Amino acid sequence: ALVSKGNYNHFMLKEIHEQPIVVAQTLGKYIDYSKRSIDLGDLPIDLSQIPRVTLIACGTSYYAAMVAKYWFEKIAKVPVDLDIASEFRYRDAVMAEGGLTLLISQSGETADTLAALRHAKEKGQIIATIINVDGSSMARESEMVFHTYAGPEIGVASTKAFTCQLSVLACLVLATAKAKQSLSQEDEQQYVKALEEAPSLMSMALTKEDQFKTVARDLAKARDILFLGRGVDYPIALEGALKLKEISYIHAEGYAAGEMKHGPIALIDENVPVIVLAPSSEIYEKTISNMQEVLARGGKIVLISDDAGLQGYRDDSLATIELPKAKSFISPLLYSIPIQLLAYYTAIAKGTDVDQPRNLAKSVTVE
Ligand code: G6P
Repeated sequence: ALVSKGNYNHFMLKEIHEQPIVVAQTLGKYIDYSKRSIDLGDLPIDLSQIPRVTLIACGTSYYAAMVAKYWFEKIAKVPVDLDIASEFRYRDAVMAEGGLTLLISQSGETADTLAALRHAKEKGQIIATIINVDGSSMARESEMVFHTYAGPEIGVASTKAFTCQLSVLACLVLATAKAKQSLSQEDEQQYVKALEEAPSLMSMALTKEDQFKTVARDLAKARDILFLGRGVDYPIALEGALKLKEISYIHAEGYAAGEMKHGPIALIDENVPVIVLAPSSEIYEKTISNMQEVLARGGKIVLISDDAGLQGYRDDSLATIELPKAKSFISPLLYSIPIQLLAYYTAIAKGTDVDQPRNLAKSVTVE
């Protein structure tokens, strides 16, 4: 079917705004809301028997995999390997017998990820995929396919497919945790409740559009931009930097906030905006102390947090953007919105071709 931009100027903006709906749609396929429990349906394997999970993907899908590594180990207590597909193929990975290799791909056609799938299969791994496009090559070659219900994604820079991947991954992590008996029924209900709340929190973040626009006008003047985050928000910082460079062509890097002092802090001066993702979670203070190191060197901060997390910092910063308070489990879903909108409006301020950025392809079917 032909997809239109509707009232939006770009597919990317339309797809950003579709997220509350498509995330809810995707979650609805894997959650039984009446029981507040995860329901993946009948699986051909027993999740309780999986000794190790290997997550493999490229680009934005790789950052979804990276969030899932934090979740799998924290909640399901399963050891996880994480690989970029083009690295996995050639690095002679030692794989656990009976291990699950989970490949994540919007298109299901990315050449490196498809080759990694075949490679893992040769090594006797159980193959599962998280895919958005029906009937894709990867879907055909895997034992289990977990669909994302994002609908067609047209913008080259992935947005809604990413948050739908996170949604499926969250459910898969909870299902694995349940199977391995590392999750009480009460905890399962708490996690499911958090997921249930995610779409409306994302909608609230989308109402801050004017603030993102204002900040983006400043970002558009920068040559370099840093993104900092910790824990599950670290991959979102990486994704923020990727989104920004993809569509605005500004050099951006994502860093684990604690790694700043080992290099990137040397770049800091008043010309390098630093975007700090710091929801008020257990590691909030740690991230904030890294932010202080930037401020002490004259760096300009865009602090993105919730009301509690912004207390006391509203004056120091170049800008603050307030998001609703969310359980840390779902913060990657919520904090995806600001990084996408910042990239979008920075690109708009620069006048680049948002939906068709130079040198990039929606689906990379060559090695
Ligand atoms: C290309 C796209 C990215 C995407 C990556 C992986 O580089 O431009 O947006 O994240 O491929 O694509 P996949 O379809 O495998 O998720």
